[in-house]
Amino acid sequence: MRAGTVNRPAAPLVRNLEPQDIGPAAAVLVLAALNARRDPVIGVATGSSPSPLYDALSASGADFTRAAWFALDEYVGLPPGHPESYAEVLRREIIGPLGLDPKTVHLPDPHREDLQAACDDYERRIAAAGGIDLQILGIGRNGHLAFNEPGGALDSRTRVEVLTEDTRRANQRFFDSLDSVPTRCLTQGLGTILEAGQLLLIAQGEDKAPALRAALHGPVSPECPASVLQLHGRVTVLADAAAASLL
Ligand code: GLP
Repeated sequence: MRAGTVNRPAAPLVRNLEPQDIGPAAAVLVLAALNARRDPVIGVATGSSPSPLYDALSASGADFTRAAWFALDEYVGLPPGHPESYAEVLRREIIGPLGLDPKTVHLPDPHREDLQAACDDYERRIAAAGGIDLQILGIGRNGHLAFNEPGGALDSRTRVEVLTEDTRRANQRFFDSLDSVPTRCLTQGLGTILEAGQLLLIAQGEDKAPALRAALHGPVSPECPASVLQLHGRVTVLADAAAASLL
């Protein structure tokens, strides 16, 4: 190393795609990760962004039964079986369409009395599976990753998080009213996410453009949790032209 130079991780690879090409392109990466190991581990996101990926995986007809799957986050305060709990979203989006055994799909348990114990248990389950090979991610309008809201530590672990007003408003579309949107959640921490072998972030729409710019070109800072992508070294970002418009 020359004096004065710093070893930096490889910058995220950004691909600007037509909206209809994002799901198939993401599926190529996930299928490669699935085929790279006998017992692969995939981290799955909820929200609108990964839906085209799950559709493409389902259409591929591949066998997904060798893998273990770990969710990024889950709401606290919804009754078991609530249609907008991420457990139910994952049942609709991946367990059914990909033909998975529900026992292979893991979420942190939001119904335990001791929520931090549930989070610690989740970290142990990820470790026992051998770590996450590929983590699928979306990005919040405020730069959140999973439910890691601005202001938190960049090396955080799975824990209870309080949702910001902005995030609750963004997710209101899935509920009857703003009051019905939970105020708390369990989320993988940023440090947890950074331990995955590779990260695949999907961003679509102009409302994500400022957050994506801050994440990829701004300072690495708690103000933009997704800026930790710059620290990883093996990140692929698949974005449509609207989300990539400020890059
Ligand atoms: C949600 C989720 C995140 C998701 C993000 C973006 O609230 N907890 O994991 O990536 O916000 O969601 P969407 O893809 O619907 O815009």
